[in-house]
Amino acid sequence: MTKDEVLSILNKAEAYVSGEQISKELGISRAAVNQAVKALRDDGYGIESKTRLGYKLISSPDSISYGELVQTIDPMRLKNVVILDSVDSTNNRLKSLEHEGAPSGTVVIADYQESGKGRRGRSFVSPKGSGIYLSYLLRPECSAEEISSLTAFVAVAVAKSLEAACDIAPQIKWVNDILVDGRKLVGILTELSVESESGAITGCVIGIGINVNLESSDFPEELRDKATSLSIVKGERIKRSIIISELISRLDLLQEDFPSAKDEYLDYYRSHCPILGKTINVYKIIGKDPVSATAQEITDNFSLKVRYEDGSEEDLRSGEVTIRGANGYI
Ligand code: BTN
Repeated sequence: MTKDEVLSILNKAEAYVSGEQISKELGISRAAVNQAVKALRDDGYGIESKTRLGYKLISSPDSISYGELVQTIDPMRLKNVVILDSVDSTNNRLKSLEHEGAPSGTVVIADYQESGKGRRGRSFVSPKGSGIYLSYLLRPECSAEEISSLTAFVAVAVAKSLEAACDIAPQIKWVNDILVDGRKLVGILTELSVESESGAITGCVIGIGINVNLESSDFPEELRDKATSLSIVKGERIKRSIIISELISRLDLLQEDFPSAKDEYLDYYRSHCPILGKTINVYKIIGKDPVSATAQEITDNFSLKVRYEDGSEEDLRSGEVTIRGANGYI
């Protein structure tokens, strides 16, 4: 804890801060300050020290730790954030917490997932130290009809977070893949718990995987021309804690907005959807051949209206589509 408090002081200071000043502010001995500085350096923080001047923070590691997140997230909010070095899947861990009664807004983040889960039984590439693997628990008060829009709301919240934190221009491929430059940057997997007797939704675990500092070689060969990362797009490494703090505050906002602020989310979704007017492949059933169609519009309940080659039309509420981009089908 002392280490995090010393880090907070160094982070806020624009110039050198003396050991004496830190010890007075925290009510700890000078030896304890020295010890905290040593521990921070061991964690990868660059801290310069000068006689008579004191300490100055020069650089911070890209770590997902309490000490790093508390620099941008309120400590009260962090009480409901579980930070892990490694886990099988953040969705699985959060589902256990959900069944133990964790409140809406509980978050699980990990630096590494041993078996990150994707949609349709696929796996999600989750190397250590380079991605964001975050699950958010929502206990919404809404109808079964309304819940089908949740995943589109989440895509909007994630896209807005990335715009704000990284100054990129994300697009949302129906239903909820986030693309940049026509390649997939973010995957979202939402898992619902339903009470069997009443059909009421008791919890939604929203799992978000963001390729932050992954290199092309981190992806399996078959994904290399379909997936991208923020560092590939920006040409520089990005600090994950900045994105995490933006993401958590947008998801907290979504908690209030869902489902009442539909129009606002719908506007954003429609204006960031790259498939409208395009020829797409529609996969309605896993393992079955796709059907070719034209994407017509996003309807008022976030369905995708498509027109098949025989002229018939359908509003798709779920399923998966691919579009032909410069790099094949995405
Ligand atoms: C997909 O695109 O198929 C969805 C990928 C979802 C990945 C995230 S990473 C955090 C959370 N934990 C998981 O095991 N999966 C989701």
